[in-house]
Amino acid sequence: MTPRTDISAAFESALKWWDDAGVDTPDIMMPAKPKLRREAAQLPAAQKPSKTSIASPPANMDTQAIAQSAPTLHALREAITNFGAGDLSANATQSVFCRGNAKADIMVIGEAPGAEEDRAGKPFVGQSGQLLDKIFASIGLGENDIYITNVINYRPLGSRKPSSEEIALFRPFITRHVQLAAPKFIVLVGGVSLEAMTGQKGIMKLRGQWQDIDLGDGQTIPALPVYHPAFLLRRPELKADMWRDMLSLKARMES
Ligand code: URA
Repeated sequence: MTPRTDISAAFESALKWWDDAGVDTPDIMMPAKPKLRREAAQLPAAQKPSKTSIASPPANMDTQAIAQSAPTLHALREAITNFGAGDLSANATQSVFCRGNAKADIMVIGEAPGAEEDRAGKPFVGQSGQLLDKIFASIGLGENDIYITNVINYRPLGSRKPSSEEIALFRPFITRHVQLAAPKFIVLVGGVSLEAMTGQKGIMKLRGQWQDIDLGDGQTIPALPVYHPAFLLRRPELKADMWRDMLSLKARMES
């Protein structure tokens, strides 16, 4: 018979793999993830995720009004930093807003900061960020040619997948962020980004298929969903799909 520890390890590995890919595992499965439980068990009691950390944004929080009242990127950054996102902001070191060139034609939208991004205060600076940089470099794009951010601006405790409620809470902020940056093209990195910006789930099916993102202010921006680099680190054989997607982006930029 297979020992229980092997089953737990296999389950943990499968969940992490699905998460990285943006596969739509029900939120109810997330609190049971062994990794989260193990990380949480090592935390002091005051930092342990409470029951509300998964899906309980602060009551009556009108993020739409806060986001829309920001006239500049600087003001939006301040608004997000001062915004109390409940357990999400309480458990994070700091908010994580952007890196790269805010005037670039391409805006890259990821999921949420991980541990290294939480420490540095910048998105995609860890292992998956390094791969992301190499992916863009493969079509000749450096940090000055892209503007990088995330849907969620605070690291979810244990780097768990953000819940649909948290994605909905932050959607007005990322929508305003896109309105203010006004890129020509968007790259949606992973399933959370796809869901936040298009309302659609299923990154495995939709990667490589251009979408039109309606910002609700008359602007529509073409967006390309791609795999998350953390997923590619586990499935390097799928890098060919990413290469095809980068060629598609390059062709669109040159047309
Ligand atoms: N994964 C993301 O989606 N964003 C980051 O900033 C880091 C890892």
